[in-house]
Amino acid sequence: MAQYKPEELQVLLLSDYEQLRLFNEETVEKKAAKAGIHDLNNLTGSEWTLHGKSVQIFNGGITEKRKKHGAAFPLSLAKHFIEIYSKEGDTVLDPFAGVGTTLDAANILKRHSLGIELNPDFINLFNKGIDVKDGIQNFDYQRNIFQCSALEIERLLSGNSVDFILTSPPYANLLNKIRDNFADKDYKNNPYKNQSRKLAKPYSVSEEDMGNLSYEDYLSEMKKLFDSLHRIAKQGAYNVWVVRDYRDLDNSLPYINLHGDLTKVATESGWILWDLIIWDQSNQRKLVRLGGNKSRRYYFNIGHSFIVVFRKNMSGEKFK
Ligand SMILES: C[S@@+](CC[C@H](N)C(=O)[O-])C[C@H]1O[C@@H](n2cnc3c(N)ncnc32)[C@H](O)[C@@H]1O
Repeated sequence: MAQYKPEELQVLLLSDYEQLRLFNEETVEKKAAKAGIHDLNNLTGSEWTLHGKSVQIFNGGITEKRKKHGAAFPLSLAKHFIEIYSKEGDTVLDPFAGVGTTLDAANILKRHSLGIELNPDFINLFNKGIDVKDGIQNFDYQRNIFQCSALEIERLLSGNSVDFILTSPPYANLLNKIRDNFADKDYKNNPYKNQSRKLAKPYSVSEEDMGNLSYEDYLSEMKKLFDSLHRIAKQGAYNVWVVRDYRDLDNSLPYINLHGDLTKVATESGWILWDLIIWDQSNQRKLVRLGGNKSRRYYFNIGHSFIVVFRKNMSGEKFK
């Protein structure tokens, strides 16, 4: 019978068979120690449990730079996943860094951070430093964004060098489409008001901007990116993608399964699908009526994103 630390036991008490298998650490821990891989995070046992809800609401203030970006995720979201999948001193990467929410959260939590972003305007906003509303910048930890395409990442980073990846990708040519497709009424006090889909605008006109590609080209470029990320990630590293599905009614496509299609290409690159979390954003926008009785079309208001968690296997690791 394996020996468990108290915090692991706490999880075991809540666990089902799947978790039991995951926490049968005898084999995994020994292998990790041999490969020089250390603990996953700095969470206490009760924090570990409390972070484990699979449906999450991420609130919290929005800063000027995140408003200006228009599609930044909340700092609380970035902190949540960085706390789970990395520990102090680790290196966190965001290949589509925007104004650097991932990097700011990582820095506040004493992780080194690295981002890639095409648009220099976003990098300029990032370079102004961490907003005091978010927290205090730790100058002992690196926090850098490089201006290039995410596809060039292997020019910057060597194999097996990154502990954790967190990102929200551009969405093929979504931003060019959605404005006309949906009514989108914001709640009066919604802090994310400026991110109304009606106001959505393309990030840039650059050909390298994945937000300007056709869906097919987009997925094939994303496959290349997942290949690169798999090479630069350390064994056992997690890779978390925040993705919202959408509709393309102009092309008679009622539902684009973006998170599913990205999962398909990621797993073809060797990433293991590890978890799927729902980010409930229904508190951000008023419900509107979509569809019509005579047309027999009823559409739900898409009020959530999927947070897809991938993991790079540790060599020889098996869960049994
Ligand atoms: C959804 S936003 C990320 C926002 C970010 N999470 C934040 O909180 O600021 C996606 C970003 O990807 C950038 N982008 C698009 N194509 C890119 C590429 N090929 N390489 C790097 N960045 C790219 C866009 O300029 C945009 O800022």
